[in-house]
Amino acid sequence: MIVIKDIESLRAVLKSHRISQNSISLVPTMGALHEGHLSLVEVAKKNSNVVCMSIFVNPLQFNSAEDFKNYPITLEEDLKQAEKAGVDLVFVPSTEELYPKGQQPVRLIAGSCAGGLCGSTRPGHFDGVVTVVSILFNLFNPDVAVFGEKDFQQLKVIEQLVRDLHFDVKILAAPLVRQEDGLALSSRNLRLSAAERVQALSISKALFWAKEAVNQGATEVKMIKERVYSELTANGIKVDYVEIVDCQRISPVNKIEKQAQLAVAGFVGDVRLIDNISLIR
Ligand code: PAF
Repeated sequence: MIVIKDIESLRAVLKSHRISQNSISLVPTMGALHEGHLSLVEVAKKNSNVVCMSIFVNPLQFNSAEDFKNYPITLEEDLKQAEKAGVDLVFVPSTEELYPKGQQPVRLIAGSCAGGLCGSTRPGHFDGVVTVVSILFNLFNPDVAVFGEKDFQQLKVIEQLVRDLHFDVKILAAPLVRQEDGLALSSRNLRLSAAERVQALSISKALFWAKEAVNQGATEVKMIKERVYSELTANGIKVDYVEIVDCQRISPVNKIEKQAQLAVAGFVGDVRLIDNISLIR
C-alpha cells in the first residue's frame, strides 16, 4: 500500500494505473476507520483493480468549530487497517494541499436532497461535503466510488451531485453495519463513555421497533415519529430530528405507502449520532 500526501505524486501514480488500464475505485473517508469503512473497501475491491482511499477531515463540512476540533484522528491505526483490508493507495492530504491558503475556497451548493434532516440542522454541511467530494472526484477520476448507507442522506446528496454535474463515476452503496447489540458503527462512537454507549442503544432499538410496527401494518407517520421521539428522550437523548422521508427525494411523507426511510439524529452527551432504517410495508 502506498501513502500519498501531495496532489502531484497522486496524479503521477494514478496516471500509471490508467496507462495499465486498471479500473480505479475511491473510498472517501475522514479516518477513524471502523468495520463500516472496511465494508466499503470490500465493495471497492469487488468492483475495481486498484482500491484508493482518502483520509481527510474536511473543515468545510463542519458547522461547529468545536465538533471539528473533537473529531477523532487515529491515522497510524487507520493506515494499518487500510493495508490489512487490501487498500492499494491512501491519499492523506493536508488542508493546505486541498484548499487555497488564506482565502475563501470555491464552494459548491448541494442540491435538493440536502434540504431537510442534517441539511436543516447542520447548515452548510452538505455544501462542504459536495465540495470536497467533487475535488476528490476531479483528482482521482475514479470508475467507482463507494459510500455507506449509514449516511443515508449523504449518499442521496452525492448521487444527485453526480447526476447534476455529470461526473463520470458510478456510485456504489454499502449497507450500514451494526454492532451485535444494534449500535450503528460510527467514528463518533469512539467519543462515547460506557454509560453514553448504553443510552445510544435506544436509537437502534427505536428504529427496530418502528420497522416491526410497519411490518405489522402501521402506516401513520405521526404516531411512529412520536413514539421514536419519546423513546429517545426517555433515554436522555437530545433529539435533533426524527423524520420519515421518501427514499429518493428525501422529502417528508405523511403516510407510509410502500417504502420510506426513518432517519434520526440526536446528541448523546455532546456526541451527535445519526442512524436510519428502511421501512417497508
Ligand atoms: O462520510 C464521510 O466520512 C465524509 O462526509 C466524506 C464523504 C469523506 C466527505 O468528507
